[in-house]
Amino acid sequence: MQKKRDNFSSKFGVIAAAAGSAIGLGNIWKFPYIAGENGGGAFLIIYLVFIILIGVPVMMSEFIIGRKAAQNVFGAFRSLSKSGFWKIIGVMGVLAAFFILSFYGTVAGWTIEYLYLAVKNSFAGKDAAQIEEMFTAFSTSTYKPVIFQILFMAITALIVIRGIKKGIEKYTKILMPMLIVIILYLDITALSLKGGMEGLKFLFQPDFSKVTPKCVIDALGHSFFTLSLGMGVLMTYASYFKNDTNLTKTSISVAAADTIIALLAGIAIFPAVFAFNTEPAAGPGLVFITLPNIFEQIPGGFLFSILFFLLLGVAALTSSISILEVVVAYLSEEKQISRTKATIIATSLITVTGVLCTLSLGPLSSFGIFGLNIFDLLDFIASNILLPLGGMLISIFVGWKLKRHIITDELSNYGTIRLTSIKIFIFLVRYLAPISILIVFLHGVGIIKL
Ligand code: PHE
Repeated sequence: MQKKRDNFSSKFGVIAAAAGSAIGLGNIWKFPYIAGENGGGAFLIIYLVFIILIGVPVMMSEFIIGRKAAQNVFGAFRSLSKSGFWKIIGVMGVLAAFFILSFYGTVAGWTIEYLYLAVKNSFAGKDAAQIEEMFTAFSTSTYKPVIFQILFMAITALIVIRGIKKGIEKYTKILMPMLIVIILYLDITALSLKGGMEGLKFLFQPDFSKVTPKCVIDALGHSFFTLSLGMGVLMTYASYFKNDTNLTKTSISVAAADTIIALLAGIAIFPAVFAFNTEPAAGPGLVFITLPNIFEQIPGGFLFSILFFLLLGVAALTSSISILEVVVAYLSEEKQISRTKATIIATSLITVTGVLCTLSLGPLSSFGIFGLNIFDLLDFIASNILLPLGGMLISIFVGWKLKRHIITDELSNYGTIRLTSIKIFIFLVRYLAPISILIVFLHGVGIIKL
């Protein structure tokens, strides 16, 4: 007997929850820093192409599978296919969730620390060098970042224990629009800074000589990371969708909202980077060493810095709960462990790995594999390998294995809405998405040379 499952209560709740998962540190912390490391404009274009041609169809595929099966990832493939092979998507997804939440907790912990610093008005009167020094001292210290990380993980676990409706929907609806308003304010200020236009040029003027295999695979990995794709997060969420949710429209809205927020974050950050003469390729600390400089200068900066880091923390939370949900749904529905117990077990294990990520930026920084510290290594394996491979298999499943009438039924809500671009969709999931993922992947790891 199937247990009765929760449903999202409103249409907006569905989109809010999916967007809440997609919009997070990926947009505001990660996008600017990897765009900065990969030279800006050209990276942006490649990333946008991947979002449109691969991200959206893979998201639609996850929605189709999730809503049709109404189960966690493992159950979903079991109910839709006789072959046991597709279980691999679930296995890779749980592994990716584990890795991602480990380093995500590190950065989310920084957000809480910065909220605390903002409340103490610690950015006031500091110049760019002092603000940078503040970040370095904090992020490489032994205890503080770990404590904030544990705090963040505990909050994530509490929300997941309380279940889908009360947990996720409520937090996303009001707070995300507020975050957008603050970022817009930062944009306007950043653009009016002296020398700020250089930053816009950096972000929007493509210089294709900077495109390396690493740039392309980073762009692909990030398009999956930022849309929460390839590991079953959105599949799990879609299992709670109602029958009248328009899957095509929802995918496009989520991808568009996600992309716009990343761009707005970039428009705030790069002008400031150039105006304050800091380094666009500063790595994971970029946002934390750039934005306080703007807060230090704007009217109301004290208040806005508090609000910003608070809301960034909330944005991280609506993503982290979606990541933890993958592991919890697996343990509770597949291994018959109670939800509370599953959450506690998963959170504890992830926090232990997460603390290693945090320490790998400070005390454990000399410990690394392939020249990457633990933090970067887990990010690389999850974002650039597991998510794209998961996405490739998901699109192959929908394009080649799933019965065509299931696709048309789901996309048309059983004939109640008109299907316009089904042929394009099929072409994208059958050929374009899997083949391009494969090529980027082989190119990125150096097996083929273009
Ligand atoms: N998309 C989230 C972000 O941009 C992170 C995430 C990755 C969430 C993978 C779920 C799955 O912050």
